[in-house]
Amino acid sequence: MAIQPDSAPSELAVAEALKALGPPGLLTGCRRIRGGDEQFLLPAERDSMATRDRKARAASGAGRRIVHELLRRLRCEDVAVLRGPLGSPMWPPGIVGSIAHDEELAVAAVAMRSPSVRSVGVDVEPMLPLPPDLRAVVITSHDRLGNLDQGIGGRLLFAAKEAVYKASFPLDGRMLEFDDISVDLKSGEAATSSGRRLLVRCTARPRILALAYTP
Ligand SMILES: CC(C)(COP(=O)(O)OP(=O)(O)OC[C@H]1O[C@@H](n2cnc3c(N)ncnc32)[C@H](O)[C@@H]1OP(=O)(O)O)[C@@H](O)C(=O)NCCC(=O)NCCS
Repeated sequence: MAIQPDSAPSELAVAEALKALGPPGLLTGCRRIRGGDEQFLLPAERDSMATRDRKARAASGAGRRIVHELLRRLRCEDVAVLRGPLGSPMWPPGIVGSIAHDEELAVAAVAMRSPSVRSVGVDVEPMLPLPPDLRAVVITSHDRLGNLDQGIGGRLLFAAKEAVYKASFPLDGRMLEFDDISVDLKSGEAATSSGRRLLVRCTARPRILALAYTP
């Protein structure tokens, strides 16, 4: 199935598309990454990622800018979301969330932890077919792409697996490889090699976005 790219989606359109993928109560945001966005890192956040280069800190700053606003909407004011030792964001008690960036956009999703959302993971990717060498690593015999080809379907699967990893990590504390995760893009179900089952939702418009969460 051919999917046409949307070369410059608005921040709002991306945030809305991400929200539409998630369960009720999920707050989402998107920001185009600008030079200097590292200014939005709170001092403790900056210290937690001091060794990263400036471009990476700008992307993280754009993500934290979204996160601070979403947390404010959940009445968590001025909370620093530090980068943990393995890269995972450290959320305030009672909050679940996830951050992702590609070359242009940062996205984030945040929610109150509840029995229906115990963890969440997001990913954003450029609308480019997954290169053949990566397809061999990402797509396994357990995955189901539905009627999508291995190019864009592979890219969606890549995003889905990154989202699943980010959602499972806070619960299981385990580093996962692509072949530790199986995804059925059609049914929206995913499972990890440690037995964790998640729901995963993806879209290719207005950007490749994936959201995974534990029901
Ligand atoms: C998590 C990971 C997959 C993110 O990949 P990426 O393409 O570099 O970056 P993304 O833009 O998609 O996401 C970055 C964000 O992920 C989040 N993140 C990083 N490690 C995480 C983890 N272990 N659990 C949850 N979220 C994590 C962070 O918020 C980070 O943004 P920040 O540094 O600004 O806070 C990667 O950092 C990683 O840890 N890889 C090792 C495991 C792996 O690659 N397995 C195969 C894929 S499943």
